[in-house]
Order: sequence, then C-alpha cells, then structure tokens
Amino acid sequence: MEIWVGTGNKGKVSEFKLLFEKLKPEFVLKSTMDLPTYSAPPENGQSFVDNARIKAKSMKAMKPQTWVFAEDSGLEVEALGNLPGIHSARYAGPKASDSENTAKLLKMLQIRSAGNRKAQFTTVIVAYSSTGEEIIVKGEMKGSIAPLPKGQHGFGYDPVFIPEGQTQTLAELGPGFKAQHSHRAMATHALVSEIKERI
Ligand code: IMP
Repeated sequence: MEIWVGTGNKGKVSEFKLLFEKLKPEFVLKSTMDLPTYSAPPENGQSFVDNARIKAKSMKAMKPQTWVFAEDSGLEVEALGNLPGIHSARYAGPKASDSENTAKLLKMLQIRSAGNRKAQFTTVIVAYSSTGEEIIVKGEMKGSIAPLPKGQHGFGYDPVFIPEGQTQTLAELGPGFKAQHSHRAMATHALVSEIKERI
C-alpha cells in the first residue's frame, strides 16, 4: 500500500522513509518528488496546522484514493519571541539556504539575548485517510541553540540544535538519534497509531 507525503524536502523525505520502514513497513512512502508535474501550493497559513493542511489538501487532490499526509515544522526560539516558527524555511529570505538561515538565527540571538538559548522544534502532520477523514497529530523536541554550527548530518537547523539532555547537535548525533527522539519521529509515531486504528 502507498502513502504519499506532500513535500519535496529531501531531508524530511529521508527521515519519513526511515520512520515508515520501521513503524509501518507495508506502507511504501512516496513524495511529491515522485510526481514531476506537481507544483507546491503557497504556504500562506498563520500556523503549523494551517500550512500542513494546505499541503495535505494539495497532495490529496493529486492522490484522492490513497492515504496522504503533509507536515509543517519549524524551530521556535524563546528569546526571539518564538521565531522563526512557521517562517523557519525562509527566515533569511525567500530562497535562503539552510546555512544562511542558521547564520541569521545565530546573529539574531547574539543581538537579542545574552543567555537564553532555549528552543524547540515542532512538527504538525495533517493526514487524509483513503476515505478522506482528516487526522492531525503533533510532535515536539526541546533543546537549545549551540554557539556555532557543528556536525554533518541532517538538514535545516540541525547543526545548531542541541536536544535537551545532550551535549552534541542533531547534525552530530545523526539520523539514528532523530529517528528515536525528534519532533518528526514523535508526530509520525502518533500518525501510525491513528492509521493502525483505521486499517
Ligand atoms: P516547512 O515545514 O517546509 O515550511 O519547513 C520547515 C523548516 O523548518 C525546514 O526548512 C527547516 O529549516 C526547519 N526544520 C524543520 N524540521 C527540522 C529538523 O528536523 N531539523 C532542522 N531543521 C528543521
């Protein structure tokens, strides 16, 4: 059976693939990268739920008979009034790279906060079952922002995020750690439980 995720973010797709292989191996994960004609909708919602729903609905329009989902995620930094939040992917500008976003985050923290580096990642997943029922689940991971980027794994802000109880960044800890503890892993566990109740 197929499940389609409405994202073209390679980092997210490889994490979801790993999670589904472990939690629900009979589901083959496909993404919008497998649909060359797909064009992503504008993410103009006001919340993670709004944006996840926009992407999930656009995925459902392409694959009406199958299970589909989309996620919206981001990093909320306490001393920055919970920014970049839903703007995480484009914090340093509409076409910003991961390293530009990370550099801006470190700079803003330097300007705004001497000591408070508390942060959290949030993922919201909106899914539609094969019959069109909407399911919403959420995952979080608390931590802090490192003084400098470190590590080679992952994507986005992984090189500057140190999970609570750890001394290394997510980019140093690697995919095995994220598959166990990340916001995306928590939300995916919740989604898979909801799926298992329905099929
Ligand atoms: P969106 O959900 O596609 O709008 O983008 C989410 C953005 O949040 C990503 O492009 C990253 O910048 C950031 N982000 C979300 N999850 C993670 C993660 O697991 N690690 C690092 N950055 C993340």
